[in-house]
Amino acid sequence: MITLRVNGQEHSYDGNPSVPLLWVLRDEFGLTGTKFGCGAALCGACTVHIDGQAVRSCGMVVSDAAGHEIVTIEGLHPEGNHPVQKAWRQVNVPQCGYCQAGQIMQAAALLQQNPKPSDAEINDAMAGNICRCGCYQRIAAAVRLASTGV
Ligand code: FES
Ligand code: FES
Repeated sequence: MITLRVNGQEHSYDGNPSVPLLWVLRDEFGLTGTKFGCGAALCGACTVHIDGQAVRSCGMVVSDAAGHEIVTIEGLHPEGNHPVQKAWRQVNVPQCGYCQAGQIMQAAALLQQNPKPSDAEINDAMAGNICRCGCYQRIAAAVRLASTGV
């Protein structure tokens, strides 16, 4: 039995300890805001926070997540009003939306560690999160806006 702390609540999981954390979040705990894109730690769609760091949940086995503080898009803010989420709405970032939870979690982790990033630092931090709709300019604009404390 593995106990995981997700969005401030304890969850138990008694399945295969070697499956990716992403499978357990989505299929066992119903936290489907975190998306499956590539399954190979290459796109960022599955990004969550582990102890405040942006981590690709498809690339972490569930047993390694035990004992850590896991936050998914559902837990970023109780009303969806984290500064990054507010900026995202203001800039109207998404197109299809599929990559967006991962983008927001990546951006939130960046701003937690570096509240006033330069444009180059934003680009560096966000470069690994793929958006097939090509919303990159709006993503960067929203991260900049969030850094001003919307
Ligand atoms: S689904 Fe995890 S990085 Fe693409
Ligand atoms: S908004 Fe469609 S993949 Fe990013």
